[in-house]
Amino acid sequence: MPPKFLNLIVACAENRVIGRGGQLPWHIPEDQRFFHAQTAGQTCVLGRICYETWPRVRADGRRPIVISRRTDLAQPGVVVVPDLAAALAAADALPGEAYICGGERIYGETLALARPLRLHLTLVHAELPGDTFMPEWRHLPWRETARRESADAGFRLTFSTWEKP
Ligand SMILES: NC(=O)c1ccc[n+]([C@@H]2O[C@H](COP(=O)([O-])OP(=O)(O)OC[C@H]3O[C@@H](n4cnc5c(N)ncnc54)[C@H](OP(=O)(O)O)[C@@H]3O)[C@@H](O)[C@H]2O)c1
Repeated sequence: MPPKFLNLIVACAENRVIGRGGQLPWHIPEDQRFFHAQTAGQTCVLGRICYETWPRVRADGRRPIVISRRTDLAQPGVVVVPDLAAALAAADALPGEAYICGGERIYGETLALARPLRLHLTLVHAELPGDTFMPEWRHLPWRETARRESADAGFRLTFSTWEKP
């Protein structure tokens, strides 16, 4: 059987910035469309801040699993767990693909896992100010499986997919 990959999906500036003040540092409609299309109908693992800033996370059949120590977040259709291990156990029990949607600490802990990973990376070709970063990922033994160049909202973009065993 081919390996079941755990997906990470991220848009990242060249200096690894992914967020600023609890928001994305950019508004790039093409990347938003890509993110929504890729995660529709799938399980999305995300931190509490990402969850609070994405009110429509349950749209399009997504199954959100939120990592938080808070107990007041529960609502129908949303699983709340205390850590990444519990999130992955919950995700593994669900059908379809699981997407790690950030933020920073969740990406970092996922990259440290000894399991097959697939990274859906949108590289935003700019150095931007920010306060949240994609942890370094390039030291892992990735194989690039897809690449597409594009441009939108004044940014040059590279959409690429990487897999590691
Ligand atoms: N460019 C992109 O692709 C992308 C993707 C994702 C996020 N972002 C940006 O990044 C920022 C949000 O990310 P963030 O890293 O600041 O916050 P976050 O991960 O969304 O939320 C942080 C909170 O989630 C919980 N949490 C996160 N990781 C945990 C872990 N490993 N174990 C236990 N609990 C954990 C904690 O919640 P409690 O305090 O409730 O316990 C923590 O305070 C925003 O600016 C957002 O726009 C960008």
